[in-house]
Amino acid sequence: MFNSRTYIPRATIIQDIEDLTYDTRLFRLKFKGLGDCDNSSESDYEPGQFVQVSVLGMGEAPISICSSPKDKGFFELCVRNTGGVTGAMQKLEKGDEIGVRGPYGNNFAIEKATGRDCAFIAGGIGLAPLRSVIKYVTAKRADYGKLAILYGARTKEDIVFADELSQWAQIESVEVHLTIDEPQEAWTGRTGVVTTLIGEISDMSEGKCFVCGPPIMIHFTIKELLDAGWTEENIIMTLERHMKCGVGKCGHCYIGDKYVCTDGPVFTYSQINALEVEV
Ligand SMILES: Cc1cc2nc3c(=O)[nH]c(=O)nc-3n(C[C@H](O)[C@H](O)[C@H](O)COP(=O)(O)OP(=O)(O)OC[C@H]3O[C@@H](n4cnc5c(N)ncnc54)[C@H](O)[C@@H]3O)c2cc1C
Ligand code: FES
Repeated sequence: MFNSRTYIPRATIIQDIEDLTYDTRLFRLKFKGLGDCDNSSESDYEPGQFVQVSVLGMGEAPISICSSPKDKGFFELCVRNTGGVTGAMQKLEKGDEIGVRGPYGNNFAIEKATGRDCAFIAGGIGLAPLRSVIKYVTAKRADYGKLAILYGARTKEDIVFADELSQWAQIESVEVHLTIDEPQEAWTGRTGVVTTLIGEISDMSEGKCFVCGPPIMIHFTIKELLDAGWTEENIIMTLERHMKCGVGKCGHCYIGDKYVCTDGPVFTYSQINALEVEV
């Protein structure tokens, strides 16, 4: 389905759009001209990878694939309006065409989590890349230990994938804990930043913890996880850097001696520490 060797965007049709919040949309996409003849059991990308999306006249932006490789015949992107390309995507309609190249980057190496407890900690739209791996592990539920999803959003209006969070909470041995930053009318759930939920996974510190969100959230989450006894090797996170090429050529995403686009975007905290960069 994908062709990661090419630098040329592929024409891609928007099959469906769901408005997740006031500024965030979920796009279901299919490459133009691709029939329904793909008989493979999984799509050819891995949870954690991203694509470069282009809108005519606006340029390109890196966006994580948020569907699971087990979703066949389409892939999904969750896009928050933050600027040129993502702003233009808020105006697109079903049937419109965008450009997509990739998939690029490494992945969450989820096979290393087989048989282990897995915690997922997301802030805001950081749930998008984690959704890919959450969908993947819940589809193969028997292969993993206990699963826990901790999600924090600024307000109740900023919660993405609300229906899916409820559905995941119904799966056996899957815990979902939600919080919003401040108390709000008609919100009866937890309040406070997402790190206040980390006590809920104190029995899982021998497992793997996947963290994704804004830099400030990642900074404090890692601090709390280390204090709670998680090892640097078992804390796995994604890094966001401004990107151009996506294929390790332009140097825009350079961090330490690594390129986030090809060596990342997924790193363990021990790798980040070795790079001597602050997160
Ligand atoms: C691997 C990866 C995965 C991502 N996944 C997603 C995703 O799933 N969903 C999603 O919505 N977003 C995702 N992003 C973030 C998204 O790519 C950025 O927000 C991107 O800048 C949006 O492009 P734009 O053209 O819409 O916005 P831009 O016009 O690029 O503006 C976005 C913001 O960045 C600032 N900015 C732009 N250029 C620079 C620069 N050179 N230096 C400093 N600041 C700058 C702008 O001032 C603005 O505040 C991801 C980023 C990476 C690296
Ligand atoms: S985006 Fe060009 S080297 Fe990473």
